[in-house]
Amino acid sequence: MSELATVLFSADDIRRRVAELGRVIATDYRDRVPVLVSVLKGGTMFLADLFRDIHLPVKVDFMSISAYDEGSESSGVVRIVKDLDKDVGGEDVIVVEDIIDTGLTLTYLLSTLRSRSPRSLEVCTLLDKSVRRITPLALRYVGFDCPDQFVVGYGLDYRERYRNLGSILAVRDMAALAADPDALVSFAVGDEGASEETNGQLSY
Ligand code: IMP
Ligand code: MG
Repeated sequence: MSELATVLFSADDIRRRVAELGRVIATDYRDRVPVLVSVLKGGTMFLADLFRDIHLPVKVDFMSISAYDEGSESSGVVRIVKDLDKDVGGEDVIVVEDIIDTGLTLTYLLSTLRSRSPRSLEVCTLLDKSVRRITPLALRYVGFDCPDQFVVGYGLDYRERYRNLGSILAVRDMAALAADPDALVSFAVGDEGASEETNGQLSY
């Protein structure tokens, strides 16, 4: 049987890297109170872990923009579904994203935020699929460079599934997943990649 998916970043890999990012951000923003802007829904798991590792006073706010029509390809059409609660004029804003792929979504988001005159505006993304970039972007904080593969887990979904996985999986067989979106639920990830608690099954 061909492999459906493999573990790209384990929960431990992610924990370690997120803690490092938190330390760097805390150093860079000492004496400030940055506003972490999280993009729903994919960025929320990363935000939840990251901001516990930033040992500074921080604020959080949420935004929801739609760029995908349920599938896995960027449409380039972006609209704000939910805007921030607070004005970010004069604030030190850090956009916290799960993954930057083509960059179309983030380009739109950054131009919207920039028009509100924050004091500073930076990006922290867990994954950077840099080979897919269409619009050049300066990403201040990057967790991992991501190969050109579709990934799920740790906030990232395929048709709203798999966001709650602790690790990040690279999907090897998109056709099989498209045929059965739940195919990964009972997928055995094998000894090496399996996280401690799973016995080869994905843990929920
Ligand atoms: P972009 O506009 O192409 O940069 O798309 C970014 C958004 O697409 C992310 O915030 C995700 O919601 C989604 N996305 C891009 N690549 C993946 C992937 O490999 N898995 C799951 N979602 C993805
Ligand atoms: Mg997203």
